[in-house]
Amino acid sequence: MNIVTNRDYLNDFIMKLKAEGETIGFVPTMGALHQGHLSLVKKAKLENDIAVVSIFVNPTQFNNQEDLVNYPSNLESDIEMLKSLDCDFVFAPEAREMYKPDDEKVHFDFGHLTEGMEGKNRPGHFDGVATIVYKLLKYVPADKAYFGKKDYQQLLIIKSMVEQKNIDIEIVGCEIVREADGLAMSSRNSRLNKEQRVAAPFIRQTMLKMKEIAQNSTIKELKIFVEKSINSNKEMQLEYFELADANSLKIISSLERKETIMGFIVVLLGNVRLIDNIKIF
Ligand code: PAF
Repeated sequence: MNIVTNRDYLNDFIMKLKAEGETIGFVPTMGALHQGHLSLVKKAKLENDIAVVSIFVNPTQFNNQEDLVNYPSNLESDIEMLKSLDCDFVFAPEAREMYKPDDEKVHFDFGHLTEGMEGKNRPGHFDGVATIVYKLLKYVPADKAYFGKKDYQQLLIIKSMVEQKNIDIEIVGCEIVREADGLAMSSRNSRLNKEQRVAAPFIRQTMLKMKEIAQNSTIKELKIFVEKSINSNKEMQLEYFELADANSLKIISSLERKETIMGFIVVLLGNVRLIDNIKIF
């Protein structure tokens, strides 16, 4: 496995492999890898000749400095895990390698895709995500790039960015990987203390119950149900729960258009911010 920190050096490598007809699968990450990430790497390996994983905690997507400082990282164990999966390249640059003063300034407009949920609650977050993914795809011009559906809004924004900028790549959305107790896997889970970790699956349980009663409830009733349920757990505080169209991400005002409705939730457990979603209809 090659570990590369220089973007031009990596790009030369990838271009050479592509010229030889090799296909490239790319998994961008912020490290602190878990089984969810590893499932993306396995898929990338299965569907392409070469798998590339980037590990870069991107400062521009953190609207909260404390969140950035506390973000877990463990490069050594990440590298060991990736070796065991036969990953071909790990790209682990420093911030100064990804943000150089002469880099082109790229602007994005995601319209209503960024209006709600993470876009509303984390100002600037998606500009940071789009900027870094745009840069990463420039240096790793892969055939396919893999992203998890836990960050569902991010996935749609990346798809839109690739379309807007005419990048020739397939963006593959992959199912959420969960712990046995239902908790969505996340690097942030490692920051939960014992009590919080025990409490955390309650988010999924609440979402499943909400889905169960959705057939016979109004949106208002579902929102009250989730709010009461989460806030009844003394470890938890609901940041938001929204129901939105799965394709446009427009917040819906009635449950009539049943095909593509999803529920989106963010819960604070202490200062750990956990995100999850569920398809309702
Ligand atoms: O989902 C993540 O880990 C990050 O937002 C991403 C896509 C690697 C960009 O920094």
